Amino acid sequence: MEKVEVGFLGLGIMGKAMAMNLLRHGFKVTVWNRTVSKCDELVEHGASIGESPAAVIKKCKYTIGMLSDPAAALSVVFDKNGVLEAVSSGKGYIDMSTVDADTSSNISEAITAKGGFFIEAPVSGSKKPAEDGQLIILAAGEKALYEEAIPLFDVLGKKSFFLGQVGNGAKMKLVVNMIMGSMMNAFSEGLVLADKSGLSQNTLLDVLDLGGMANPMFRMKGPAMIQSSYSPQFPLKHQQKDMRLALALGDETAVSMPVAAAANEAFKKARSMGLGDLDFSAVFETVKHLKG
Ligand SMILES: NC(=O)c1ccc[n+]([C@@H]2O[C@H](COP(=O)([O-])OP(=O)(O)OC[C@H]3O[C@@H](n4cnc5c(N)ncnc54)[C@H](OP(=O)(O)O)[C@@H]3O)[C@@H](O)[C@H]2O)c1
Repeated sequence: MEKVEVGFLGLGIMGKAMAMNLLRHGFKVTVWNRTVSKCDELVEHGASIGESPAAVIKKCKYTIGMLSDPAAALSVVFDKNGVLEAVSSGKGYIDMSTVDADTSSNISEAITAKGGFFIEAPVSGSKKPAEDGQLIILAAGEKALYEEAIPLFDVLGKKSFFLGQVGNGAKMKLVVNMIMGSMMNAFSEGLVLADKSGLSQNTLLDVLDLGGMANPMFRMKGPAMIQSSYSPQFPLKHQQKDMRLALALGDETAVSMPVAAAANEAFKKARSMGLGDLDFSAVFETVKHLKG
């Protein structure tokens, strides 16, 4: 597998870390990114550059996509010089972006109609787990491609799940991020409430960390939030996209989600305050603002 050419489309926060990881583990990687300059560091570490998504697909048996949202994932596949132009029998496309199930199904149908294989494989875990190969991979679609891709997933993640038909990986990812977004809002409100009640926010972090609600997210993000430091690990605009897509899934399935809906409003407010490119923990600023 290490000798097989692996393509990588999308070198944002996650894609760059994941492609770098593959290179470090001896894979031959050909990269493409809309903003070409983001390829430079990967090239310094041995990657080749493909001129377009189509060129990458043509060269590589397996290609991974890691794009920001449904519009980007669709554009890379369906636009001129996109993935679809070069897909042929035996090619495998693995979309690891977080999108909705319909987007994934549209991509899957188009690729399989041309004889290619498709799986969606969105990930749980942020920049650091991506750098450390500790992601949780939520795959679904063509089982044979999933099995062939396991050597890649073993490098990128600490555990991969095969969840059945296309759409199930996307849905699982949206459920997870809906929970995460709601948690971040409750956490932010707690920090503000502690502060306004004359309590130490640092002591609140210590109390939380010793009990049943202890978790790596509070532990990692809490101290930075208290310092109003929001270096982007997971951009807030993407968290709001995931809340929006999860709420749409709730519409389809008639699941009432008032907590998630309120959290989505806070993320929207944060975007309107110009915080979209900061870490999603910057929603804390919105809560501070609302509480006056
Ligand atoms: N960061 C995290 O913690 C995290 C964790 C789990 C899942 N995810 C998901 O993983 C995906 C990538 O996240 P990220 O944090 O790496 O995002 P990011 O840093 O914003 O990178 C987004 C990537 O998508 C590309 N892109 C955006 N619009 C495009 C378009 N119209 N055509 C072609 N390429 C386009 C960007 O290209 P340019 O460089 O040209 O802008 C960039 O390569 C998202 O779906 C996100 O929800 C992120």
